[in-house]
Amino acid sequence: MNKEAIIKAGKIASEIKIWIKPQIKKGDKLLDIATKIEDKIFELGGFPAFPVNLSINEQAAHYTPTYNDEKLAEGLLKVDFGVHIDGFIADTAFSVDLENNETNKQLIEASEKALLNVEKNISSELTLGETGKIIEDTIKSCGFNPVANLSGHSLEEFDLHAGISIPNVDNKSKTKFGNGHYAIEPFATNGNGKIHDGEKGNIFMWISDRQTRNPNARKILEFIKYTFGPMPFASRWIIEEFGKLAIISLRQLEQEGILHHYAILTEEKGKLVSQAENTFLINNDEVIVTTK
Ligand code: CO
Repeated sequence: MNKEAIIKAGKIASEIKIWIKPQIKKGDKLLDIATKIEDKIFELGGFPAFPVNLSINEQAAHYTPTYNDEKLAEGLLKVDFGVHIDGFIADTAFSVDLENNETNKQLIEASEKALLNVEKNISSELTLGETGKIIEDTIKSCGFNPVANLSGHSLEEFDLHAGISIPNVDNKSKTKFGNGHYAIEPFATNGNGKIHDGEKGNIFMWISDRQTRNPNARKILEFIKYTFGPMPFASRWIIEEFGKLAIISLRQLEQEGILHHYAILTEEKGKLVSQAENTFLINNDEVIVTTK
């Protein structure tokens, strides 16, 4: 673990969060917001750990704009982005209400409060079950439900979901955090707390060493491996490099099982979802919220 890189990635993420949040207005193009954040990550010396997620209302996560996206910011918008330095990741998210809507505001407060209550109690000795209980109790006390089937995750070098899940409900797990690097992300909803895979979005990830025979797809795959390695990427990043036809190769690589194509995570009944997320570095008695 490279503590220096972890701290630096966190600082970049935190700086961008503070910078972008007041700029987001209803009617802004999602594509412009995503590009602004991603450009800033490079400007500050980082690399996007995954495409900026801009998910609206019932979409909980995993929507990123296409290369020609016309969609505008509205409703309850979740902004989730990651920064890495040499593979050491900071993962953070916030929600904004673009409607001056009471329910949106309360949902945002619920997920933020849950994250803050985790921060107040977290240590290497805290169990994952206790963490889930803190999140669940806080969100329920605000009159909403936590999303039970989304969770936080441990982070490792070039690995966004490194094996340990941090539940948003009390799953009774007795596993302690111990020393490690974690993204914790409470989601609150005015629905029943279940998310399902919606339509396929615009985020992909390289998952198999298999080779493809198509020369165009092969060229694109080499670029993906070299540029992103095992980290998620946006279809628009590929189109920027290879043009619009690259979308055909992405589809082919997906069909051949070489790329994973992420679905947009959506609340089952179309209810609203809010999210708050920070990254934590735990080392014995020391806990650093790297993205704060
Ligand atoms: Co995350």
